[in-house]
Amino acid sequence: MSRIAPSILAADFARLGEEVARVEPEIAMLHVDIMDGHFVPNISLGVPVVRSLRAVTKLKFDCHMMMTNADAYFEPLADAGADLVTIHIEAYPDPTEAARRARDAGLEFGLVVNPPTPLAAVEPHLELCDLLLVMSVHPGFGGQAFIPEVLEKVEAARKIIDSQGLATDIEIDGGIGPDTIRLARDAGVDIFVAGSAVFAAPDPAAAIRDMKATLEDVE
Ligand code: DX5
Ligand code: ZN
Repeated sequence: MSRIAPSILAADFARLGEEVARVEPEIAMLHVDIMDGHFVPNISLGVPVVRSLRAVTKLKFDCHMMMTNADAYFEPLADAGADLVTIHIEAYPDPTEAARRARDAGLEFGLVVNPPTPLAAVEPHLELCDLLLVMSVHPGFGGQAFIPEVLEKVEAARKIIDSQGLATDIEIDGGIGPDTIRLARDAGVDIFVAGSAVFAAPDPAAAIRDMKATLEDVE
């Protein structure tokens, strides 16, 4: 199964269905960035777009919620066809209740840590998580440079998850492309989000295949 999750934030929103169709044969999961213009200084898309996309693809939808009140949207998102939601620990210092709401809505659940946020903030809550998303840029915009310092956090998370026998996958998001994907893989990442490296490429499917080949080289 492909470990690359393209971020549609970098796709052409006027042709979203076509953009998804171009990458669909190469992937299992699509990364959907949902922003509120408040937790992050940008807005992107929401429930109606998730619903429209669900009508044209069976891909798993990984909804990265950059919102202060993300849990208010779990039920509508589940109804629209989302599969997994991740919320930021910076917005939910105690995510227990939000995790319960996500499960009640039938969603998988994960937590996100921003670059300056220590792993200690999420460590007590890893058991709640199908996914731990480690941000490798400051959230809000695509096309930013990878912050290599977050790899130490990935390595530490990998050790904790493995030593505790947890089923939590580690995902990384921001500045992932042919030059950075190996570093992330070596640090212990399972799932790689890539926005501009996929959708700004002349051939997005070929860009994904190239990154997959890069991963296989080091396995
Ligand atoms: C940033 C988003 C990312 C973004 C990544 O806030 O969470 O998912 O789309 O874009 P690239 O891969 O271009 O850094
Ligand atoms: Zn994201």
